[in-house]
Amino acid sequence: MRPNSWTIPSQKKRYHSRMALRFNLTANPTPRTEAEVAEVLADPGFGVRFTDHMAVATWTKSGGWSDDQVRPYGPFQIDPAGAVLHYAQEVFEGLKAYRHADGSIHLFRPEANARRLQTSAARMMLPELAVEDFITAVETLVRADQRWVPDFEGEKSLYLRPFMFADEVFLGVRAAERVTFAVIASPSGPYFAGGVKPVDIWVTDSYARAGVGGTGAAKCGGNYAASLIAQYEGYEHGCSQVLFIEAADKDRVEELGGMNVFLVTAEGKLVTPALTGTILDGITRSSILTVAADLGLAPEERQVSPDELFGGIADGRFVEAFSCGTAAVVTPIGAFRSTAGEWKLPSGSEHTLAIRDAILDIQYGRVPDTRGWMRRVV
Ligand SMILES: Cc1ncc(COP(=O)(O)O)c(C=O)c1O
Repeated sequence: MRPNSWTIPSQKKRYHSRMALRFNLTANPTPRTEAEVAEVLADPGFGVRFTDHMAVATWTKSGGWSDDQVRPYGPFQIDPAGAVLHYAQEVFEGLKAYRHADGSIHLFRPEANARRLQTSAARMMLPELAVEDFITAVETLVRADQRWVPDFEGEKSLYLRPFMFADEVFLGVRAAERVTFAVIASPSGPYFAGGVKPVDIWVTDSYARAGVGGTGAAKCGGNYAASLIAQYEGYEHGCSQVLFIEAADKDRVEELGGMNVFLVTAEGKLVTPALTGTILDGITRSSILTVAADLGLAPEERQVSPDELFGGIADGRFVEAFSCGTAAVVTPIGAFRSTAGEWKLPSGSEHTLAIRDAILDIQYGRVPDTRGWMRRVV
């Protein structure tokens, strides 16, 4: 019997009292000076500097969510027997706050991240956090740390990392009865230092990231730990990212370790692997599928085999390829490499760059937000 056909007892059922969380602010008594913030924002890097505050809430099986607050950024105290350290019961999200030219600050489709956190949490037997509570946590943190949101120039933003982990002191394999949810924020510049340049992708046939019935569609830390060895294999072959192939039959291309993948055909089709339960339902991916028609491209979600990928590049059916995700937005792919050879895309990434601009224009408020994707915070 496949695990999915069992009735999985959801942590959701244990969540009775539905009082909206407020995440009231306890201000940091020693925030960084304006000069220190300015120095970080001038060259933020990616994921290395953090703001003055964090949002935190605690869940227990008996009491549901409580202790919600935005408080000074600082370490957690985790008992050595804390469940997450042993059984990796953890999920996370990633989204950004963008400053527009008029100084206002906006989130891009945060309710989609909130829903995806719910899906990931359900898969990992973690409790459900209501969409509005997720948004209150993120918005309260962004308001508290608004001076940390960089200017709109240079593709900078405030990267937000919501996450949830098993925080029970217990050695044993069962769903934790005490869980912590938190959001931290990190001013960020472009994900790939050196700007938008085509990257080469290693197609691994040694390692898998996910399998049918596994956790590939959940954003849980273990997936990323599992992908590292393949990424390092990729580095050895001069590639910066890895493309994973379906684990059992090896008959379909899935996604990169931290990004979805798209192909553009000579006749203007925009092809991406269908969501089969083993890949992440990327918010950038779904946004690109939605805006494709505006750019004269016909979106197509379907199975793509490695043979079709490599053969299609060789015979000119695929003229562009790119990866996409919140962190790096849209990045052109220069070539795919595997133990069997190298398949180079033609130079020139006209469609890829048009898609990139279309998404960034919405996120930075340079075009009207006709789909209601942006949520103003400040
Ligand atoms: C495995 C994986 N695939 C795809 C994505 C892209 O998702 P999104 O566009 O929501 O950032 C991410 C990044 O979150 C990811 O980690």
